[in-house]
Amino acid sequence: MINIADEKVFKEYLQQKHLISDINAVTIKPLGGGVSCEVIMVRSSEQSFVVKQALPKLRVKEDWFSDVARVVNEKDCLDFYHKIAPEHVPKLLFFDQENNLFGMEAAPESSKMWKGMLLAGVIDFDVARKVALTLADVHNVAAGDAVILRRFASQKFFIELRIDPYLRTIASRHPKLEKLIHHEIARLIENKQTLVHGDYSPKNILVDGSKIYILDFEVAHIGDPSFDLGFLTNHFILKAIKHKQWAMSYLNLATYSAETYLQRINFTDTKVLEYNTIKTLALLFLARVDGKSPAEYITEGYDKDLIRKISYGMLEQDIRSYRDLASYFLNEIGTLA
Ligand SMILES: Nc1ncnc2c1ncn2[C@@H]1O[C@H](COP(=O)(O)OP(=O)(O)O)[C@@H](O)[C@H]1O
Ligand SMILES: [Mg+2]
Repeated sequence: MINIADEKVFKEYLQQKHLISDINAVTIKPLGGGVSCEVIMVRSSEQSFVVKQALPKLRVKEDWFSDVARVVNEKDCLDFYHKIAPEHVPKLLFFDQENNLFGMEAAPESSKMWKGMLLAGVIDFDVARKVALTLADVHNVAAGDAVILRRFASQKFFIELRIDPYLRTIASRHPKLEKLIHHEIARLIENKQTLVHGDYSPKNILVDGSKIYILDFEVAHIGDPSFDLGFLTNHFILKAIKHKQWAMSYLNLATYSAETYLQRINFTDTKVLEYNTIKTLALLFLARVDGKSPAEYITEGYDKDLIRKISYGMLEQDIRSYRDLASYFLNEIGTLA
């Protein structure tokens, strides 16, 4: 497998594969990624694209195979999303199985991560509408597509990267909730209704003016649609804890996103879906303080306790709708609903 982090090696690779014409006319820029992958921007006057490569984990030998599968999962899901929402998802350009990588269209250089905008208090309902409707469209189409339901049947990455570190971890740390959490885990795993993105987060959505770009499909699997809406809106309610002065706007954003999404859904009972989503949300909320991937911007002990209290309250009061959640939440943090 080539090391695309080595600029010289990567440029030679791109030329060999005829992906660029002039090695001297391109700029290469690493975009982050991290321990599990490399993400690199390639720009020239003729074209721009992004290459994402899954890195083998060093731990055990079997992981090598799982890493290959991870990149195949990701590029297939990207492709499916692009077919449904071409204006909001980069196009898949090439795939190289041997080197664990694929190329996709690049978002414009001026694009910003939605997460940063939200944390800065820029609360854009038009972005939320596009994000919610694209998710609903993908869920609707996939739910009726037998080929897709078979293609993404494996839940391996979802279990390794979401169920274990988020939900099983909080089950072991909150014995009072253990039974309930295991019940919800079973639902998320057994309710194989549609294609779940699994990482539908403002971190994986770029915004450029009125355009959005949805990214990062590694955890895609067939499962329960409540996971994506719960995961997305969890990011909004976490920010309401961080910036209490804007809490009402973040809660409105959560309610608006949920209602926009639910109104579009056509394959299941949306009252049940909303109810299940609030349960999922309560657990994901708790997981961002007591799971293995705590939200880095929730630093105060007081805020962590508040999240625990609200999560328990959502479950104990059996909250069923985003509207009721917003009133309850604002009341708990001391802002008038
Ligand atoms: N097609 C793209 N166009 C522009 N930037 C991108 C593109 N794909 C990824 N990026 C940038 O790279 C970052 C990491 O990509 P992502 O697919 O989310 O990888 P990871 O799995 O490491 O989170 C994104 O947050 C985004 O800033
Ligand atoms: Mg990402």
